[in-house]
Amino acid sequence: MPFKIMCVAGARPNFMKIGPIMKALKKEPSYFDPVLVHTGQHYDYKMSQIFFDELQIDPPEIFLNVGSGTHAEQTARIMTSFEEVVVEQQPDLVLVVGDVNSTAACAMVAKKCHVMLAHVEAGLRSFDRKMPEEINRLVTDAISDFLYTTSRDADEQLAKEGHPDSGIVFVGNCMIDTLLALQPQVDQSTIKEKFKVKTGEYALMTLHRPSNVDDPKVLGGILEALSYLDAHMPIICPIHPRTRKNIREFGYQDRFESMQQFMDIEPLGYLDFVNLMKNAAMVITDSGGLQEESTVLGIPCLTLRENTERPITITEGTNYLVGVKKDKIIDSIKTVLEGNAKKGNIPEYWDGKAAERIAEHLKNFIAKS
Ligand code: UD1
Repeated sequence: MPFKIMCVAGARPNFMKIGPIMKALKKEPSYFDPVLVHTGQHYDYKMSQIFFDELQIDPPEIFLNVGSGTHAEQTARIMTSFEEVVVEQQPDLVLVVGDVNSTAACAMVAKKCHVMLAHVEAGLRSFDRKMPEEINRLVTDAISDFLYTTSRDADEQLAKEGHPDSGIVFVGNCMIDTLLALQPQVDQSTIKEKFKVKTGEYALMTLHRPSNVDDPKVLGGILEALSYLDAHMPIICPIHPRTRKNIREFGYQDRFESMQQFMDIEPLGYLDFVNLMKNAAMVITDSGGLQEESTVLGIPCLTLRENTERPITITEGTNYLVGVKKDKIIDSIKTVLEGNAKKGNIPEYWDGKAAERIAEHLKNFIAKS
């Protein structure tokens, strides 16, 4: 009997990680019976379905349709629905990715149902417990049997937290598997023509973290720094639903409109977005994933946060931890505009084969048990 692996995805940043894992598991039907569960944490076409289409991920076998809510509401709804699925389907292992609410909720359900648990992207720590993702990471790692990591510093962190070496497996970065595999399709995107921008002559920006967009002062300061950049080049900014809502509520619409070249647009699909990223002069973001993708694409990344759970993108990649203060953001923008940004290197095992390594590890585990 093949090993039944229930893979969980819920929110946008999960889909590019789960895609290559499902593909790698499906290649070995005598070992694995993979089942994809989509919790429905993200549900808008542009936050979810478009990724299944573009990344050619087969539709999920199970859709939980949990939707939005407070953290407790959303987590509880995912747990209640996922528990029914686990009880009915009796998987041999639940595999969760990343650090969203769906990750931690399904991890807890799995272990309480005495099912083995694997966490992909384990061991990342911002050491900022006000970040919901940090809580999700801590909770998930604490109870996982297999901790698949993207960097050696994550291995060290997990060892420090008392995890036995046998459960920690350095496999590389599944999100980068997708990034590398889809480069031909990315290069076919005509999105630059649509926005009338040229390679190396615009900035790409995303902003959605509660710490940046829920506080009017912080968001206001960031917008002021952006006006400096706006005088030099267009800024393309696909806006997350949360950010759009807050801009309206804080009455900041006019600050956007006063920028001459700023383009606030709807969330983009993966192929268009990566095309814009790989051709940008710089990326400005508070996202975790973009810090990694820009490192692989060799594009300078200014991270508008005080900490990062992905330090390797700074020590080895193109990322700068800039913070959210206006003057600091402007200084960093100047460094990039003057052509003085670091070039960076691609971290070890960010080579397109991370999902294969996970499948290989699981195969060996099954063969031995
Ligand atoms: C979630 C993740 C975050 C990730 C982000 C990427 C958690 C704790 N956070 O944050 O780590 O970086 O996804 O996008 O899991 N909404 C829509 N349409 C959707 C989904 C959400 O309009 O398809 C709106 C709703 O108003 C919702 C809000 O966005 O209340 C926030 O959604 P939620 O899933 O709670 O968290 P994100 O901020 O998206």
